[in-house]
Amino acid sequence: MPAAFASTKKMRLFDSPPAKKHTTPHRKAIPKWVDVNDEDDRIGKRKRQNVNGGLKQPQAHITPPRKKARLSGPLTPIQEQRRLLPIARGKDALVQEIRANDVTVLLGETGSGKTTQIPQYLLEAGLADSGLIGITQPRKVAATSLAARVSVEQGTPMGGRVGYSVRFDERTGPETRIKYMTDGMLTRELLGDPLLSKYAVIVIDEAHERTLRTDLLLANLKRILRERNGDAHDKGKGKQRNPLKVVIMSATLDAEKFSQFFYNAKIIYVKGRQHPVKIYHCAQGQTDYVDAALRTFFQIHVDQPPGDVLIFLPGQEDIESLEKSVELFARQLPVGHAEVVVVPMFAALQGPQMARIFTATPRGARKCILATNIAETSITIPGVRYVIDTGKSKEKRYLAGHTGGGLDTLMTRDITKSSAMQRAGRAGREGPGFCYRLYTEEAFLAMAPTAEPEILRCSLAQAILQLLCLGQDIQELDLMDAPDVDAISSALRTLFLLGALDSHRALTPLGRAMASFPLEPAHARAVIASKELACTAEVLDVVSVLAASSKLFVDATDKRAEIAEARRALVHPTGDHLTLLNTVRAYRAAGGEPEKEGDEKEKVGRSARREWARAHFVNERTLKEATSIRDQLRVSCTRAGIDWRTSCGEREEPVLLSLAHGLAQNAALIAPDGSYKQIMGQSVVKIHPGSSMADKKVPAIIYDELIYTNQIYARGVSSIPKSFFATLGAFNRREA
Ligand SMILES: Nc1ncnc2c1ncn2[C@@H]1O[C@H](COP(=O)(O)OP(=O)(O)OP(=O)(O)O)[C@@H](O)[C@H]1O
Ligand SMILES: [Mg+2]
Repeated sequence: MPAAFASTKKMRLFDSPPAKKHTTPHRKAIPKWVDVNDEDDRIGKRKRQNVNGGLKQPQAHITPPRKKARLSGPLTPIQEQRRLLPIARGKDALVQEIRANDVTVLLGETGSGKTTQIPQYLLEAGLADSGLIGITQPRKVAATSLAARVSVEQGTPMGGRVGYSVRFDERTGPETRIKYMTDGMLTRELLGDPLLSKYAVIVIDEAHERTLRTDLLLANLKRILRERNGDAHDKGKGKQRNPLKVVIMSATLDAEKFSQFFYNAKIIYVKGRQHPVKIYHCAQGQTDYVDAALRTFFQIHVDQPPGDVLIFLPGQEDIESLEKSVELFARQLPVGHAEVVVVPMFAALQGPQMARIFTATPRGARKCILATNIAETSITIPGVRYVIDTGKSKEKRYLAGHTGGGLDTLMTRDITKSSAMQRAGRAGREGPGFCYRLYTEEAFLAMAPTAEPEILRCSLAQAILQLLCLGQDIQELDLMDAPDVDAISSALRTLFLLGALDSHRALTPLGRAMASFPLEPAHARAVIASKELACTAEVLDVVSVLAASSKLFVDATDKRAEIAEARRALVHPTGDHLTLLNTVRAYRAAGGEPEKEGDEKEKVGRSARREWARAHFVNERTLKEATSIRDQLRVSCTRAGIDWRTSCGEREEPVLLSLAHGLAQNAALIAPDGSYKQIMGQSVVKIHPGSSMADKKVPAIIYDELIYTNQIYARGVSSIPKSFFATLGAFNRREA
C-alpha cells in the first residue's frame, strides 16, 4: 500500500476488510466483524414461518413455476430485468389472488419487485379498467423516483401513463393510470372525494412504517370498502358498482396484524430475492458512529471492488459533518485511488439536488451517499452495492400539554430490526451487495421489531382537523392503534383556540378554510388572518420558510461571532419572524429581478443569490424549498379567495399580528425574574440561544415551537405588543 495512505490506514475500524476477513491475521484484531447471511435475519425467518406455516388458514404462497415460460422475440434489457425479478415468477398467481380478494396483504423481500411491478401487473391484467391505481409511499422521494422508474419500464414519459403526486408537486395527466403518491396526498384527496371513487386499486406500500397518514388511510379504506364493495354478505346484491381493491405491502410487515385488521384478509408471501446481501456486524459496539462510518467507508473504498456506498445517519448535522470529513480524506488519497463523489440526501433537498443522488456516477469514481432514513425503504439508488448502517435515526415525538399545545422532541435513537433489514436491502438491488452494520449482532437482536406507530407519538391537530372535514371523529374511527386520550384532547383544544372548532367540537367555516391549506393548522390560521390584515405576501413568505423541512439559518457554534456579524443587517428588532422575512427579501434581491428561466441574466442572478446565501450563512436549500412551497400556497390562497399579492410593505405590525393569530397558544409573558412564562400553559421557557431574541427582555413573546433538551427552549421567537392579546380570538375562547 502506498505510503501516503498511512493516515487512512490508521483510521481502520477493523483491521481486515470484511470481505476478506480471514486473510490478514497479522493485523491488529480489534474490532472484528461477524458475518451473517441475510437469510439469518431472524425476524425474516420468523415471518416466513408465520406466513407459510404457522397460520390457521392456508395462505397463498407464490413460488416459481418449474419451467420458465418460453418467450417470443427478444426482450429489451429493461423488460429482461423485469422478467428476472422474483415476483415475476408468481405474476399470474398474484394477479389472480388480488382479483379474487378485496384486500390482500403482500409480504415480499426487499428488491423482489413489489412496488415497481404489482401496479404494472394489475394494469396489464385489466384491474384498473374502471379507475386509477394509486400506490402510496411514506416519503416524497420514493414516490417521485418510483414513478420515474416505472415510466421508463412502461416506455412512456413521466406524467403520461405513470405519474406522481406529492405535497407541493404533481406530475399526472389525462393518460395517467398508475399514480405513485405520498400517503399524505391520498389523505388530502379524501377531503374532496371521500370514497376515493376514481381509484380502482389502492396499494398501501411500506405499511410497516405506520405513519400517521397510513394509519388514517387504513381506517378510511375499511370504511370505503364497506361502502363501495358492501359487506361480505351483501355481495352480489348490486352494491358493488365500483368496487375497490386494496393491497397492503411491505418487506417487513406484521402481516397477521394487518390481515386481522381487514377481517382476516389473505396474506401472500412472495418468496425470494434477486440478489443476496451479505451482512457484517461489528464485533464491538461503536461509540462514535460518524467516525466509524468514515473509517468503514475508506476501508471499502480502498479494498473493495467498484460500487457506490450508501451510509445511513440519523440527521442532517451528522451528514454535513461526515460530508466534510469524507471530502477531506478523499483529497489526501494517493493518485490511483478512485475519485470520491459525496452526495448528501435528506428531506430538505430540492429537485435538482435530489437528482444528483440518482444520476450515474462518473466513470472511475465512487459515489458516497450520506442519507437519513428517507433512503431506508422503497427506493432503488442505481449503483449502490455497499450500505453502511450506523443503526441510528432521529425520531420525532410530541409531548402533548394538558392545556393544549405541546412540546416537540427530536431524539437520536437506535433503529428497529425492521429498519435494519430495510437498510440492508438497499445494497442488493442491481447485484449482490454488502451491508456493514456499525453495531453488534447482539444489538441487532435486541432491537425492537418495528417502530411505534406515529399516531401514538405525534401531534394530532392537523389529522383531527382533516378528519372533521370528512365528518369523522378520531375517537370513533376504527384505527389499528388508537391514540392516547390526552393527545386527542390537547389537539382538540388547540383547534378550538384557533377557532377551527366551536364549543360543541363542531367544525367551523374557519376550520374548513384552514384545512384547505397543506399546512399545520397554526400556519394556516396565520395565512387566513393575513387577508383581513392585508399582508398575505409577507405572511406567505414567512410561513413557507417555516413549512420547509430544514432550518434557514446555518448555526455553527465555532463561528457564532462571524455569523452574527454577517447577519447583522438582516436582524429585525422584533425578532426571528421578521428577520426571516428580511432574509427572504434580501436573498431574492441579491439575484436581481427574476427573468425568463434559462436566460443569461437569470444564470447570473442564480449565482449571485448562491453567493449571498453563503456569505450570510443562510441555508439556500431552505430558501429554494420555501419558494416552491410559497408558489403552491399561492394556488391554495387563490382557491380560498385570498389575494396573495396583498402586501403591507414595510409595516411590521400586521405580519406579527397575523402570526400571533396562529401562534396564540405559543405565547409567553416575562416574569419578574426575567424568565418567560407561558400564558396558556404552566411552563417556564427560555429563549433558544440561536434566536435573535436570545438575550432580550421584552414584555411578551410568541414562538414557533418548544424544544426540550436540558431545559425547555422556545425557538423562532418574536416580541409582540401585549395589546395584541386582546384582539386574538384565542384569548377570548380560552375561558370557554
Ligand atoms: N431506478 C431503478 N434503477 C434500476 N433498477 C431498478 C430501479 N428501480 C427498481 N429497480 C430494480 O427493480 C427491483 C425491484 O424494485 P422494487 O422497488 O419493485 O422492489 P420492492 O420489492 O418494492 O423492494 P422494497 O421492499 O425494498 O421496496 C430492484 O431490486 C432493482 O433491481
Ligand atoms: Mg417497494
